[in-house]
Amino acid sequence: MSKIFDLIRQALPELAVTDDASALVAYGKDWTHHWTPAPCLVAWPRSIEEVQEIVRFAAKHDVAIVPSGGRTGLSGGAVAKDGEIVLSLDKLNRILSFNDVDQTMTVEAGAVLQVVQEAAAQHGLQYPVDLGARGSCTIGGNIATNAGGIRVLKYGNTREWIAGITIVNAQGEVVELNKGLIKNSSGYDLRHLMIGSEGTLGIIVQAELKLTKPLPESQVMLLALPDFASVVQAFTSLRAGLSLQAFEFFTDVALKRVIEHGASNPFDDTYPYYVVTEFDADEEGALKLFESGLEQGWIVDGALSASNEHKVKFWHLRESITESIAPLKPYKNDISIRISRLRDFLSDAEVLFARNYPDFEVIWFGHIGDGNLHISITKPTALSAEEFATHCAAATNELAALITTHGGSISAEHGIGLLKRDYLSSTRSDEEIAMMQAVKAALDPAGLLNPGKIFAA
Ligand code: FAD
Ligand code: MLT
Ligand code: ZN
Repeated sequence: MSKIFDLIRQALPELAVTDDASALVAYGKDWTHHWTPAPCLVAWPRSIEEVQEIVRFAAKHDVAIVPSGGRTGLSGGAVAKDGEIVLSLDKLNRILSFNDVDQTMTVEAGAVLQVVQEAAAQHGLQYPVDLGARGSCTIGGNIATNAGGIRVLKYGNTREWIAGITIVNAQGEVVELNKGLIKNSSGYDLRHLMIGSEGTLGIIVQAELKLTKPLPESQVMLLALPDFASVVQAFTSLRAGLSLQAFEFFTDVALKRVIEHGASNPFDDTYPYYVVTEFDADEEGALKLFESGLEQGWIVDGALSASNEHKVKFWHLRESITESIAPLKPYKNDISIRISRLRDFLSDAEVLFARNYPDFEVIWFGHIGDGNLHISITKPTALSAEEFATHCAAATNELAALITTHGGSISAEHGIGLLKRDYLSSTRSDEEIAMMQAVKAALDPAGLLNPGKIFAA
């Protein structure tokens, strides 16, 4: 038992805490696997007051806090490797209220995304942020990473859907940000500062979410394409002719991994690129575009959903990529490039990998409609884990240089966390980083909240 564990039990006897070894491992990590989890304890506050008590306890005993949601993060933001307190929002997970007139719903930060989506649907409305981790990720984690997902193309990132946030700050005070207002020109919008702050500026305890009309009836098309230029061509053509809800791509290597994981191959042949796209139902328009794509050669095969079962099957090919490759412990990149530069970026990156890392299996997929490329690299069997990590760090350095050249970002939606910390300057200027550090120092001078994430502590 750690000293801190004894002290917190004495100071806050009602608080749910553990230092059980298996809980420390489970709660000290997210979906990354690069660090050894080593928190001193896990605490599960049941009220905002308990969150405040934990923050004040941590400040008094100079121990850091890692705010923890569903731990589905992909950049190590929720990793606790240095004796921190993991403050889990698991027990603060209620749907608190629905406001019919404002079309908002207030939830606790630990509410799971899918539960929130289902609660909105019960009121005939939609919370439109959606991602593959919907069954486990939390609203607090989504806000802290400004999560994107598969419908950004139509609805934008999490940021667009947050009417107000309640936080506990590093001083243990409860602060309400924006109070659900649509218009509020009264100084800095601290709500937006919290969104994407990865647990480094405050602990989100509640959020008022904006809701909207349900998605119109939709259809899904699965396309096979000859090259990446055709993926971009298909996107611009389908965007012009249909009302797109999502437009996602993946490569033959990704499909191979998904099939190995149990999916069945919908095509008789293999093709270099695939697209799953969802749009407001328009069979005639979709088939016309499909035909013209076939004629002009930017589509080589495909199918249009004729049932809900087809839709689920097509989406499964895209949405199960992360899970299918997880056992291979891939090194992941999450890159943002403006759509008009995607082609040039990808061809430069392919040259880079072919020239310097010919043994890497590089799995490309992502949200083309948002200019968001996921690049996952699996470990060649000939390399040890350490050698692989060294090679991936070198490759990311080179990718980061390309990102700077193409004016992109090292993280589109997963956040910087620990994984991308060393590459922040590929995206942000020295002046921006200095301003961010000044904000951190002003709001959390003792470095209590998630130190070492985004930038070194
Ligand atoms: P965690 O992983 O627990 O934490 C993430 C960060 O938020 C950490 O820095 C943590 O300290 C902080 N945090 C958590 N809760 C709070 C809180 N209450 N207050 C303050 N800080 C907090 N991401 C996308 O953006 N788009 C995708 O399409 C997508 N697809 C995914 C698919 C799969 C299969 C998986 C496993 C992950 C995917 N992700 C995706 C990544 C991940 O789901 C998101 O980053 C998600 O927002 C993390 O939520 P979480 O509750 O799991 O947060
Ligand atoms: C996705 O879009 O599926 C994700 O963000 C997850 C990943 O990059 O693996
Ligand atoms: Zn993604």
